[in-house]
Amino acid sequence: MTTTTNDNEKRLKWHKAYETGIERIDFEHKVFLELINSFCYAINNQLAAKDLSRLISEIEKYAEFHFISEENFMRRINYPDYNKHQKDHFELLEYLNLYKHKAEDFGQYARFLHQWFVNHTIHEDIKIKTFIQENNIDVDQYYYNLNISK
Ligand SMILES: [Fe+2]
Repeated sequence: MTTTTNDNEKRLKWHKAYETGIERIDFEHKVFLELINSFCYAINNQLAAKDLSRLISEIEKYAEFHFISEENFMRRINYPDYNKHQKDHFELLEYLNLYKHKAEDFGQYARFLHQWFVNHTIHEDIKIKTFIQENNIDVDQYYYNLNISK
């Protein structure tokens, strides 16, 4: 994530381990990962601090949107760990805001974002997948997935 000769090689990549199997959640997570990539690219290309701060706002707003989207889905399927999961989201938004001022540089903030994304996805979001599988829930019946033509 530091300065590089080949930005493409340094891109944060999507891994199978991140997949919840819920099309919309996976789609929104992929967008989130790409926002972090755009942010890293901007850091490596020495964008002005003012513009980097605007990218942080974009990431924060997107995180807020995505959390509400995911929470709405959990509510619809009566997900048993909803309260704990929502608390995790809330704490992260608070921490993101704090860390924005605490981080020594933009790179450190980007690393924190990525680490948080990986940890939360593979440890918490993946539990939604398990709940769906164990209870044979048909996601499509909740009109949650987005019908986006490719
Ligand atoms: Fe989540």
